[in-house]
Amino acid sequence: MRPIRVSQSDRLSGEIRVPGDKSISHRAVLLGAIGNGQSNISGFLSCNDTLATLACVRSVGIEIKKQDDKSLAVYGKGRHGLVPPNAPLDCVRSGTAMRLLTGILAGQSFTSVLTGDPQLLRRPMERIIEPLSKMGAMIETTDGHAPLTVHGAELHGLAYPMPIASAQVKSAILIAGLFADSPTTVLQPGPSRDHSERMLSAMGAKVWTEGLTVMIAPSELSPISIDVPGDFSSAAFPIVAALLVSGSRIMLRDVGINPTRTGLLDVLSEMGANVKVKSLHHTGNEPVADLEVQSSSLHSVDIKGDTVVRMIDEFPILAVAATQAKGTSIVHNATELRVKETDRIATVTEELRKLGARIEPTTDGFIVKGPTPLHGAPVSSHGDHRLAMALAIAGLVADGTTQIDDVECANDSFPGFMELMQKIGARYD
Ligand code: S3P
Repeated sequence: MRPIRVSQSDRLSGEIRVPGDKSISHRAVLLGAIGNGQSNISGFLSCNDTLATLACVRSVGIEIKKQDDKSLAVYGKGRHGLVPPNAPLDCVRSGTAMRLLTGILAGQSFTSVLTGDPQLLRRPMERIIEPLSKMGAMIETTDGHAPLTVHGAELHGLAYPMPIASAQVKSAILIAGLFADSPTTVLQPGPSRDHSERMLSAMGAKVWTEGLTVMIAPSELSPISIDVPGDFSSAAFPIVAALLVSGSRIMLRDVGINPTRTGLLDVLSEMGANVKVKSLHHTGNEPVADLEVQSSSLHSVDIKGDTVVRMIDEFPILAVAATQAKGTSIVHNATELRVKETDRIATVTEELRKLGARIEPTTDGFIVKGPTPLHGAPVSSHGDHRLAMALAIAGLVADGTTQIDDVECANDSFPGFMELMQKIGARYD
């Protein structure tokens, strides 16, 4: 793997389009597979994580045809049309693939095994096993982790108060609820992303949301035609880059701005960021807009509670923004960061400190003092895509050269990250 070198960059400018939303792309393939007939997906994100989902879905007998670069047809066979895979299903590094697939496989009439890369095998699976088992699922784990052996079973409805706010857990339960013999209800402690509910509803499932409670009744799914919007979590990197590099002005076209995903926008605006939301429209059930970003002087922020859930993937890049903001920024209530692709409280603080950031880990978040001039240094992504990209943005404002050991892992969610950043003026080689 060739390390990349990042040099301090002058103003960023131009118009870009980030790749399709990862969460929506996974769901369109998974739900399309158990829909009755041909689902059409355009704007599909082909990244390592979603390609893992495609391969798993093909292994349970679903035909998927690539129509062009970003368009797929998924030939769904209904809830009971899947066939037993003849090898373990490899979710690679995708937590979404593994947790949502488990929801589907729990209600089948065959046994399957789900596995993945060592990074994924370290992540907690008990959080889905506990509620799914209460529904009647029979799943063996390896000490609460994958590999998982899922023995298909008859499922029953459940009323489940979720101990953590997690869209993956919620979605696994709701999907299993499609196969149950009575309705299922989940009570969330906070507002996690609601793409599953929106898509299930667009596919004709009987699903209702009341505040933080979501109910689903066993349902057949109609196929769906969906145009996947740009991924806000990918847009977050050029957004923060343009805010921090002085004299910048960029336009991001067609970004998904589902409010359960845009906590970072609210936080940045509280910090004094100049981000304008333009041309709001909808594709399918999802709100989409253009985002115009101008470099801004930022001040510190305190983040806690529901906002944390609404920006759960954006803390590595928020930490970078906070190093350049005036005052002390504090992140609370974010222990979930410890069970992401890496322990992001540990890895983000460790790596940004190498660049001179004044950042301290806490048990449930971190504290950042700013503004602090950053100095280029060798840093490591720890194989975590969002940390890799956050460091690649930090390097744009650091003096000297920042060398990052592995940025290829950006392909887990954002293929073409470096090229797109170069297009607006980032100096990467
Ligand atoms: C996701 C949910 C979040 C997020 C992940 C994608 C999803 O995970 O961090 O990148 O697509 O449902 P949790 O549900 O574990 O918070």
